[in-house]
Amino acid sequence: MAKRPYIVGNWKMHGTRAMLAEARAIDRASERLIKVEVAVAPPFTLIHATRKEANLIGIGAQDCHNLEGGAHTGDISAVMLKDAGAGFTILGHSERRANHGEKDADVRAKGEAALAAGMNIIVCVGETEQQRDAGKATSVVTKMLKGSLPQCDDPAERITIAYEPVWAIGTGRTPTIEDIGDMHKAIRESLVAIYGEDAAPDMRILYGGSVKRENAAELLAAEEVGGALVGGASLSAESFLGIIIAAAETEEA
Ligand code: 13P
Repeated sequence: MAKRPYIVGNWKMHGTRAMLAEARAIDRASERLIKVEVAVAPPFTLIHATRKEANLIGIGAQDCHNLEGGAHTGDISAVMLKDAGAGFTILGHSERRANHGEKDADVRAKGEAALAAGMNIIVCVGETEQQRDAGKATSVVTKMLKGSLPQCDDPAERITIAYEPVWAIGTGRTPTIEDIGDMHKAIRESLVAIYGEDAAPDMRILYGGSVKRENAAELLAAEEVGGALVGGASLSAESFLGIIIAAAETEEA
């Protein structure tokens, strides 16, 4: 079953309550853009308020702890995020892996916790420039998938993969369409190996890294790309909607 393209804005560590106006504008516009599934992942502090402002789009978190609660100062559990209104969480983003030393096993444990709390997950994988130059991009990503993905009875509905080459994040650089297609095909093969031939074909694989309105149509048309995880260009409704409209047009083409 072909799914609608999924366009997710990762606001990272951006946004105070002044940003709620952007969320409201994205939510309103998405009423007309029903061919696309839209979501934003604001910082923890805005999840509840964004959920109250926005009725149509998905609202998610950018991380969670792997335990339900306890003596973990400064951490937030999946149960708390669900309670605040998050329907999903991003996990294993390269900025978390680099800045907080998260390993594949940590990402998997967080994924198990999020699924158990009733949230869906977007698991991020991607190679560094050095790894790509060494010809290791596919093997690195395949290993990350094996180590990071949790067991799940219904992965097609609950788990999304985001392929985000580290060197393409926030740099304005993107892989070629062929390289994206090749990597997404390799990811699909890994998903078949992990989740089996029934579920894997229906799992969405997003591309992330310097997606903008200007390149969205081309990137979204690459083989096996089921949507985009957008950083900088998701911070204003105007630029994010440009990408969402491009996704809607890709569906019509
Ligand atoms: P940019 O779109 O700013 O390159 O960020 C991509 C990203 O990291 C989304 O998770």
